Amino acid sequence: MADIKARIIGTGSYLPERILTNFDLEQMVDTNNEWISARTGINERHIAADSEQTSDLAVNAARKAMDMAGVVPEEIDMVVLATITGDFPWPSTACLVQDKIGATNASAWDVSAACSGFVYALASAAKFIETGTCKRALVIGAEVLSRIIDWEDRNTCILFGDGAGAVVLEGQEGENGVLSTHLHADGSQWELLYQPGFGSRYPASVSGIEERLPFLKMAGNEVFKMAVRSMYDVAQETLKFNNLDVTQIAKLFPHQANRRILDGVSKRLKLSEGQMYVNVDRCGNTSGASIPLALDEANHKGLLNPGDLILLDAFGGGFTWGAALLRW
Ligand code: COA
Repeated sequence: MADIKARIIGTGSYLPERILTNFDLEQMVDTNNEWISARTGINERHIAADSEQTSDLAVNAARKAMDMAGVVPEEIDMVVLATITGDFPWPSTACLVQDKIGATNASAWDVSAACSGFVYALASAAKFIETGTCKRALVIGAEVLSRIIDWEDRNTCILFGDGAGAVVLEGQEGENGVLSTHLHADGSQWELLYQPGFGSRYPASVSGIEERLPFLKMAGNEVFKMAVRSMYDVAQETLKFNNLDVTQIAKLFPHQANRRILDGVSKRLKLSEGQMYVNVDRCGNTSGASIPLALDEANHKGLLNPGDLILLDAFGGGFTWGAALLRW
């Protein structure tokens, strides 16, 4: 059988219209622009309208990716959607997207790997394509984190934003496409970054709402250190696996968590100026959406050239982390 690779043939993204700046946050919690900007590198983030759900953001990004790819919805075999803020606990948001875009021939499921979700989703879809089980997959990262943020907690509410990004993957013979994927998890650390309610451990209750269980909880310092270490380690693992030196990477797309985390990874990997793509200043942390959003931005700016080696590098709750190396 010919060697089939999963190649990205279209990208798309969507950011809700409303922008929440650090100055807006000054009016909401005890914080200030200088602190947020210095500690996180974030200046503003987008917030979904009340009428917008995660599936709506996903659909907007997906349609743009399909347009760029020149693919109609019926040609999609699989919709894989990374999210931790689905429209409902179930059914999957991927099913809602499959319906809304009319991808009537596609299977559909969500991937839950928090901020590493897109890399996990891409790795899964790529395997289906490489085995010939599927020809074209829509891989999406979409989040409306603003609905699970505790807007009274200044430690977390300053970090996150809403958005979506999508790619169309197609099986093609040749040298271009996903070259390798590397996924990891450490479930012993789940309590450092999670949403307690409401699931089977803490089912829905009035007291649970009073205890603010439906909101994201995070131990910022521990997460910070683990993020830098894990993103560095998995990037090195990927380079070693492919016998590459970091200088051969045209662009590295990290999960956009925090500017200081990205600077830490960049310094350890000895990246050169501009080698890492960063948009956290404008988008904040959009969890599973952050990498495809950044990828689409860079694509539209003409920063990605055929043959370029592109490294995706993510870390998130679980803990989960992972990387994917692509030849564009
Ligand atoms: N505005 C002003 N002060 C704030 C604040 C805010 N929004 N949030 C916290 N502070 C205060 C703290 O209360 C603390 O005050 P104290 O010294 O009087 O107790 C002080 O600032 C320092 O807090 P600390 O938590 O040590 O700051 P930090 O340098 O670790 O930065 C984070 C906090 C959250 C920005 C940082 O830990 C971080 O980015 N962590 C990773 C988060 C992340 O990326 N999560 C997702 C990963 S996928």
